[in-house]
Amino acid sequence: MEKILIEKLIKKAIEMLNFSYAPYSNFHVGAALLTSEGKIYTGCNIENAAYGPSNCAERTAIFKAVSEGKKEFEAIAIVGGKNGKIENFCPPCGVCRQVLAEFCKKDFEIVLAKSTNEYKIMTLEQLLPESFSL
Ligand code: THU
Repeated sequence: MEKILIEKLIKKAIEMLNFSYAPYSNFHVGAALLTSEGKIYTGCNIENAAYGPSNCAERTAIFKAVSEGKKEFEAIAIVGGKNGKIENFCPPCGVCRQVLAEFCKKDFEIVLAKSTNEYKIMTLEQLLPESFSL
């Protein structure tokens, strides 16, 4: 992926930290998902008083895209941190990895970022090897 596009995805993911609804954990997560057509779908985590119904930022972005007919993806940028302050990389949880595996190819790129110039890129295959599918 071009550097300019990586930076754009990271910027959008960082913007999403403002929309994160995380009154229980105070851990804010933002994501920006790139479709194969070049469109970007964003997401944030949305928590719930009953905890279980909470949704991660990555799944918010995927579900927004799939619900609008998009099913082919190139990359996702993810950022997160306590009170919205990014201090570490925020790798996707196991459930989100499995949801990504439903729609994304093995070389789908996962951009784990601390800022637009501090990031690392991992493939879905690296984060979820030997994934389950039917
Ligand atoms: N969270 C995400 O949004 N994405 C992840 O991959 C890991 C966790 C959210 C869920 C919850 O709202 C908060 O971070 C703390 O777990």
